[in-house]
Amino acid sequence: MMETRGEKVLLRDKTLDDAIDDYRWRTDPELATFDAVPPLRMAFQDFLTIYSEELRYPTPRQKNFAIVDLATGKHIGNIMYYDIDEYRRQAELGIMIGEREYWSHGYGTDALTTLLRHIFSTTRLERIYLHTLDWNHRAQRAFEKVGFVPISTVTRRGHTFVAMEIYRDRFESGKSPARTQVQAQDSTRADACRAPPAAWSAQPCHLPAVLDSARAFVSHQGVCVAHLTCQSSGHARRGATGEEKRSW
Ligand SMILES: CC(C)(COP(=O)(O)OP(=O)(O)OC[C@H]1O[C@@H](n2cnc3c(N)ncnc32)[C@H](O)[C@@H]1OP(=O)(O)O)[C@@H](O)C(=O)NCCC(=O)NCCS
Repeated sequence: MMETRGEKVLLRDKTLDDAIDDYRWRTDPELATFDAVPPLRMAFQDFLTIYSEELRYPTPRQKNFAIVDLATGKHIGNIMYYDIDEYRRQAELGIMIGEREYWSHGYGTDALTTLLRHIFSTTRLERIYLHTLDWNHRAQRAFEKVGFVPISTVTRRGHTFVAMEIYRDRFESGKSPARTQVQAQDSTRADACRAPPAAWSAQPCHLPAVLDSARAFVSHQGVCVAHLTCQSSGHARRGATGEEKRSW
């Protein structure tokens, strides 16, 4: 069983005993809004069957952990990384503190710090990214505090999400500049690379898609980065959009 400790929380592998809390949180309408999904509507017995199957046959592309309050031993939420891409050395992160009385008391920040330390010390991943709803300022503040920086906005199913990322070197150097400093720095330096190469507009993005728009800025590593929004041109995927990042 994996267990790693922070200052306020312990992260541990999930167990079947967590199912009852997870069911309570997944069926909670307010908690569902933070993930822009409808609350779960499923009988507990069915949820438990799926839950135990997932524990028995975990996917290698996802790691889920329970967040436990060190002081009381109470299971207060979950944190996970998923879409683990060993080739690109990146993964997406998700977090949810289900117990409301624990919000805004530093538990989320400590859980994030503890997970990032675990990831960067036990895997070869270099980049962790996430998406959070644009109105979720508490979450964005917690992510910023551990060093995540906003990189773009993404619209999905009518919701606007802020994409944020952190690289191993930033985390390990302990730098977590305030958002305003990062934005000021990026917007100044972005002037140097405002126009992405024109040739890109003639090239396909990922899938059979055409370039819709490109937004350029400088990443924290000093590299010019363009976020390309792609609109599918194929019949089968007509109307689908996607985002891609290229540097030059
Ligand atoms: C998002 C979440 C993980 C953050 O964990 P947390 O323990 O509440 O956060 P922390 O206390 O570590 O940090 C929150 C920060 O936001 C600040 N904050 C709280 N409410 C805020 C608001 N409405 N606007 C701006 N900042 C706010 C807090 O003051 C704190 O910053 P500070 O330490 O500089 O004062 C947790 O609140 C949560 O799970 N919420 C419900 C689900 C959710 O939003 N999940 C994220 C989906 S991406």
